[in-house]
Amino acid sequence: MSERGPEVIVIGAGVMGCASALELTKRGARVSVLERSVPGAEASSAAAGMLAAQVESHEEGPFAALCLAGRERLTAWANDLRDRTGIDVEHRVCGVLKVAYNAAGAERLERHAAWQHAAGARVELVGATRALDVEPALAPPLSAAHYRDEARIDPPRLLRALRIAAERAGARFRSGALVRRVALDGGRARGVEIEGGETLSADHVIVAAGSWSNLVSGVPLGPGAVRPARGQIVELLCPTPVLRGLVWSDAVYLSPRDDGRVLLGSTLEFVGFERIVTAGAVRDLLAAAIEAVPVLRAAELVKAWSAFRPFTPDELPLIGASGVEGLWLATGHYRNGILLSAITAEIVAARVFAEPPPFDPTPFERT
Ligand code: GLY
Repeated sequence: MSERGPEVIVIGAGVMGCASALELTKRGARVSVLERSVPGAEASSAAAGMLAAQVESHEEGPFAALCLAGRERLTAWANDLRDRTGIDVEHRVCGVLKVAYNAAGAERLERHAAWQHAAGARVELVGATRALDVEPALAPPLSAAHYRDEARIDPPRLLRALRIAAERAGARFRSGALVRRVALDGGRARGVEIEGGETLSADHVIVAAGSWSNLVSGVPLGPGAVRPARGQIVELLCPTPVLRGLVWSDAVYLSPRDDGRVLLGSTLEFVGFERIVTAGAVRDLLAAAIEAVPVLRAAELVKAWSAFRPFTPDELPLIGASGVEGLWLATGHYRNGILLSAITAEIVAARVFAEPPPFDPTPFERT
């Protein structure tokens, strides 16, 4: 390691790669980010931007705690990014209203609220009248759960801000660099080989390649350790905002933006890397959204897209140790890449510098 700080190669310029690059450069590392396409080309910019730490957790434990830590750290990062770049990443603590339109759904809300209360988190079970106070545009639900501490962010803005901040801090980005292999020497990562045969050396390598992570030779993840889970999203535009916060029913979630857009998500499909939008998914998302928020019938249908969440079989992210010295993981975040970006970057940077991490990553590490 040089006295000028370790040389670090980051594979992938999605939200994990950009956030890791920023955190590492802030601590004095000399960082190169290698991206086969362009920064933010994949799932990171395609996400709906829900910071739903509570709603995405299904039991008390390390993952639920990580999600809460992730929500808290991303709030701080949003302010820091505005100072560094002038970009408002549209971080808003707008809450999630989870709505049920039948008895089974209402029972699920109660069960979720019960363990959340036991864990000390804030959630309020409400009836239709109170739900309409929170979100007047809703079709009256049978019941609802209001998670007022949940937040949202605008992923494309977040990606731009992270990339600009990382570059200003000294990180170098290289587009069109497809990493074929992690170069190992004496059981330790020493750099990477990119398509065309060029070898780039480094003291540390960070794998932040999302759904493509286990396609890089030398990364000790077996087949299927990370695989793509397609999600389709539909974007609507209303003349003025119709929702105050995030709305979530069994069949759809709705993520509003300040400018009147509403993102509807999402499917969960294991179809390899087939990047298409299907008629059935668009129909289903639109039908569920209009059922929950009838005024959306008149919204403009702007566009629809699909992207690939990096799914892991236990649905837990891979953060920190990979089992190979000098090779670190920041991947497999499945449904929660945006939410967990800042905390992941802080953990990975702490591991590279052999400093105490801000959150114990051992449940998410490979040794
Ligand atoms: N974070 C929600 C999703 O992946 O659909």
